[in-house]
Amino acid sequence: MLDRLEPQAPDALLALIKMYAQDPREDKIDLGVGVYRTNDGATPVFRAIKQAEQRLVDTQDSKSYLGPEGDKQFVDALKPYIFGSDKGTNDRIEGMQTPGGTGAVRLAVALAQQAGIERIHMGVPSWPNHAQILGDVGVETAPFDHASKDGSADLAAVLDAIANARETDAILLHGCCHNPTGVDYTNEQWDAIAQALTDHGVLPIIDVAYQGLGHGLEEDAYGVRRVLASVPEALVAYSCDKNFGLYRDRVGAFYIMAAKPDQIEAILSNANALARANWSMPPDHGGAAVRTVLHDDELTAAWLAEVEDMRTRMRKVRNRLAAADSEVPSLNLAALAEQNGLFAVLALSKDQIAQLREDHGIYMAGSGRINVAGLHEGNTDRFIAALAEVTRD
Ligand SMILES: Cc1ncc(COP(=O)(O)O)c(C=O)c1O
Repeated sequence: MLDRLEPQAPDALLALIKMYAQDPREDKIDLGVGVYRTNDGATPVFRAIKQAEQRLVDTQDSKSYLGPEGDKQFVDALKPYIFGSDKGTNDRIEGMQTPGGTGAVRLAVALAQQAGIERIHMGVPSWPNHAQILGDVGVETAPFDHASKDGSADLAAVLDAIANARETDAILLHGCCHNPTGVDYTNEQWDAIAQALTDHGVLPIIDVAYQGLGHGLEEDAYGVRRVLASVPEALVAYSCDKNFGLYRDRVGAFYIMAAKPDQIEAILSNANALARANWSMPPDHGGAAVRTVLHDDELTAAWLAEVEDMRTRMRKVRNRLAAADSEVPSLNLAALAEQNGLFAVLALSKDQIAQLREDHGIYMAGSGRINVAGLHEGNTDRFIAALAEVTRD
């Protein structure tokens, strides 16, 4: 039976990681993998997380099973950071822990389908796994353009998708720090989107994977809070893997906002049943570490300072690239200063991307997506010079 299975294309980014590892050049630059890097090119464990983990080792007296909802205190401790203090929405929001933001997106899509959603509108380009999850769950994707040519968000496209949505449609939106473009909706655009979702009765699924890495934890929550203050129902997928640096520990949460508080329990029981049939229950360790940080004022302050350092460093890199706009006239580097988070997409051809890799040891995704955090004081000038060279003709 099993030899009937067709080989699947390997993950393009994983292939890139392999090529990068095999490249002997000492000044090679990795802009492919989507993890934060310090000015020294490292992806260290957060100091606050290290301390929290030590406390867990010292005090944890059991590794007995939790339920499919995972660590409820972790889920609740995150709530004020994501949803703020508005009681009207908070009384209608409940969540559960998931294996990473990926598990949360998967659960959101599967639950939406169970509730009758057949098609999901999605701005493209998007995180490639979004389309894969929709396809795997068996929901149709309705793509619309996320960004305009000038490097800002295409508001008309998203409003058009909402206005033309069917009753069995939902829409998937990135809460902040859009992957791969870095192009976020402005607050005024979120206002218009929230109004349109309300007017047309479209269910929003909001994926928040990089809170704090754009303009700040509060600022980056504007979209999700604005939409939830307006619509009756929403689903939110959250990842702690970037803003707590916990990537491999797979830390995420899934939240449901119901129209009425007394509906939450029944909705959540469906999400629990889906989780049970998928991963049964999420891994505990990373969520427990986040909970330990958020329950301790000192560790919380240390975590916030670390997130601020990341954000400030990435802004500096963005500003440096934007300042080189005239050196690489074909790429609109100026727009990077207005964009957010780890990623940006450069309008490079396949040949130019290959030339950067082969001639300069600079590795990026085939889409032209770069991880801004792969750049630092020691390699940004060389990157800009290489861009200028491959785009000269
Ligand atoms: C937009 C978006 N959503 C969700 C995720 C999932 O993150 P994880 O499963 O690593 O927590 C990612 C990760 O790259 C992402 O970019």
